[in-house]
Amino acid sequence: MKVLFIGDVVGKPGMELVSKLVFRYKRDNEYDLICINGENSAGGFGITKKGALKLKRYGCDVITTGNHIIDRKEELEGVFMIENVIRPMNYEPSFPGKGWTVVKKDGMECAIVNLQGTVFMPDEPKSTSPFTVISENLEEIQDMTPIIIVDMHAEATAEKIAMRYFLDGKVSALIGTHTHVQTADESITEKGTAYITDVGMTGPFDSIIGMHPQPIISKFLGNTNEQFKLAKKDVRMNAVAFEINDKTGRATSIRRIQIAEDT
Ligand SMILES: [Fe+2]
Ligand SMILES: [Fe+2]
Repeated sequence: MKVLFIGDVVGKPGMELVSKLVFRYKRDNEYDLICINGENSAGGFGITKKGALKLKRYGCDVITTGNHIIDRKEELEGVFMIENVIRPMNYEPSFPGKGWTVVKKDGMECAIVNLQGTVFMPDEPKSTSPFTVISENLEEIQDMTPIIIVDMHAEATAEKIAMRYFLDGKVSALIGTHTHVQTADESITEKGTAYITDVGMTGPFDSIIGMHPQPIISKFLGNTNEQFKLAKKDVRMNAVAFEINDKTGRATSIRRIQIAEDT
């Protein structure tokens, strides 16, 4: 199974690039499954039902999310009514949506799980240990399919690496999201788990992780009144492409991708 996992899509510039590139991938039948993190798809802050439906229409099969979804609380119910749009599994159980899904593609079943780290992460949405929650649910997921892809949405590199050791050989791929900066440590463990600490972002790179630099610098200088503004220039897609043996669930390759708007 050939999978593309696209890093956090940021605002309209990111959405437009995804629409263009994913259309091409679908037309050329390049991937069996396309996953994307959509927590910043709505102007950089959260995700709307309309935006999630757009991503599905572009050809994204699964949308994972993270902390930013509470920027648009009024959208939560609508967003998570859409099939294969998931939120971190370790949010409190009353939070709308679910933490994993199973997708059928060309006769193959693939589970996608969303987790969120707890180190240096905002207090809301409330979350418990991703390590405990995945341990409690992994057997049920493994009973359904050996192909398991996990989005670990977290700030701390060490927490993501700890999860890599914790889930080594138990899942096909563990893909880090949230920091918006792609790391150069993609690898496959001896037990067959594809890994990257952070897949990066899809949006304007002439920015501070997607936002116009000036208001953020003002904030660091103590001025908290300025509104953050979505940046526009140097739009790129960050992603990883990996292959999974669909009988064993073991990853066989992983490749980092960074594509600029005009290529
Ligand atoms: Fe993000
Ligand atoms: Fe995030």
